[in-house]
Amino acid sequence: MHPDTPTDLERLAGLTRRRFIGAGALCGAALFLGGQLIPRSVLAQSVSQATGSALLGFESIPISTADTVIVPPGYRASVLISWGEPLFSDVPAFKHDGTGTAEAQERQFGDNNDGMSFFPFPNDPDRALMAINNEYTNYRYLLAQGKVPQSAEDVHKALAAEGVSVIEVRRIDGQWHFARDSEFNRRIHGNAPIRFSGPAAGHDLLKTEADSSGTHVLGTFQNCANGKTPWGTYLTCEENFTDCFGSTDATIKFDAAQKRYGVTVESKGNDWHKYNSRFDMAKNPNELNRHGWVVEIDPFDPKSEPVKRTALGRFKHENAALALTADNHVVVYMGDDERGEFIYKFISRDRYEAANPKANRELLDHGTLYVAKFGDGDGNPDHPKGRGQWIELTHGKNGLTTENGFNNQAEVLIHARLAGTQVGATRMDRPEWIAVSPKDGQVYCTLTNNSKRGSEGQPVGGPNPRANNIYGQILRWSEHGNDAAAMAFDWDLFVIAGNPEVHKETANGGSHNINAHNMFNSPDGLGFDDAGRLWILTDGDYSNKGDFAGMGNNQMLCADPNTGEIRRFMVGPIGCEVTGITFSPDQRSLFVNIQHPGEEGGSTFPEHLPDGRPRSSVMVITRDDGGVIGA
Ligand code: FEO
Ligand code: CA
Ligand code: CA
Repeated sequence: MHPDTPTDLERLAGLTRRRFIGAGALCGAALFLGGQLIPRSVLAQSVSQATGSALLGFESIPISTADTVIVPPGYRASVLISWGEPLFSDVPAFKHDGTGTAEAQERQFGDNNDGMSFFPFPNDPDRALMAINNEYTNYRYLLAQGKVPQSAEDVHKALAAEGVSVIEVRRIDGQWHFARDSEFNRRIHGNAPIRFSGPAAGHDLLKTEADSSGTHVLGTFQNCANGKTPWGTYLTCEENFTDCFGSTDATIKFDAAQKRYGVTVESKGNDWHKYNSRFDMAKNPNELNRHGWVVEIDPFDPKSEPVKRTALGRFKHENAALALTADNHVVVYMGDDERGEFIYKFISRDRYEAANPKANRELLDHGTLYVAKFGDGDGNPDHPKGRGQWIELTHGKNGLTTENGFNNQAEVLIHARLAGTQVGATRMDRPEWIAVSPKDGQVYCTLTNNSKRGSEGQPVGGPNPRANNIYGQILRWSEHGNDAAAMAFDWDLFVIAGNPEVHKETANGGSHNINAHNMFNSPDGLGFDDAGRLWILTDGDYSNKGDFAGMGNNQMLCADPNTGEIRRFMVGPIGCEVTGITFSPDQRSLFVNIQHPGEEGGSTFPEHLPDGRPRSSVMVITRDDGGVIGA
């Protein structure tokens, strides 16, 4: 039988399953199909061979362990730009031996591209800007000596490789290309001037010897994922910033907040503190508080100073997913990517005014931050669901008082993690990206994995249903009244990743929409296209062995949120993470990032030069017939 031809039984099972996922209220069907009455094998087949999705129009592809990007028949993937590409003609070319200077790197495309957004020019459909995060760097490839920094110049080069790259792209004959020498090309790296705004700006905890006002900081780094505002600015999210700090005094005693944010004496394999005192906790402890924020950038004004928006709270920010309430207040959903950390939402005090873009520039400075508390739910092993609520993080409320260590709102925001604990927020399985459906406003969040679930104060249950969670899951919630302003929501798990070939039981075999043909681990990147297809990008174990046998390299999948069907769309090269996703407005070009190919060696992607270093790259995917991606 051709694998795409379902039998009648499979067709029936597939149809029934679609009804149940599409209509959350049908709990009878959920129980019936929750692996109880229809054998798992039949369900799995029906899912892999489903033909009913009106949204998914491409052929699911097999896994790959090759050192290349694989896409479905009828599609092609090409490199838009790679790490080290000069943004201007007077900048030296990338050097494959690692001898390029920090000064050159400050004007070259940054390393390890992650979240990104596409900004079309208002009056020219063939021109656009892209703002692209450069999350971190791999010293084995960045530096000629191939190890952690050994000098101030090495640290300078690392800071130059991180941050954000803004580039212009132009469409020629239907294909987007990088435009060198555009006046909009820009690097906002780890030494770029940035200002603070919002309730924590100027607070004592942000003051340092170099900035006694606590209002100006050098640089943004560890820029993971992103957000795009309706008023045309870019949000870049500072994630693993504490890894960049250490202490030259090994006897230093970190306070509770410093410990909670994870700073260590050794730093996590960066050693910047040894050669640049800004990162030395023994000398500049408050510098740590000046990172871990969401930074707003205006890509269309290359001279504008980026702004760290403190009202959004300080933690290991993954991304920022925006929505509007029923009465046009701006909502920002955010995850804190650490085992056992929280999910947040911000609601602006003022309303978004579409007709008056200038009025929107300070919207992210005034508002209320909330943190999520999830109910235990119904405990269904295949498709758990339940309720949850948002708890306000405002000084003076919910125990956020001076007696409990919070002297004012600035301290609540700077120590958002401690505030979340104070109010009883739910410790999650590493919240990564959040995405809001353009069709129904439901919110999706990847919970990538969590080796600590089931221990260390992180009980199994609710939206975190597995001890030692090695595969991850995608959480979904629907705000009450279908209004992002709501203080309560209903949640379910859209998919529980797993390996049904290795684990026959539901827990690690995955939910009903996982099968031998579409399995993956560690969902991380997440994004919707305009038609409401949900794109899932992975940053998982690519050993293709043991618990991960049959999963291959990291990949991108595409799901129909209504039916639950998931198909594999793209597989990346050896040792990479697939991350960062954005579309051209016509939905005919999909941009996706290959991050750190060959992080453990074994890859020379994308040039495949005999002595070439692998280079993180932005890929652009198009259809041979010029059609809409995924349709
Ligand atoms: Fe940068 Fe949580 O991934
Ligand atoms: Ca990520
Ligand atoms: Ca990740």
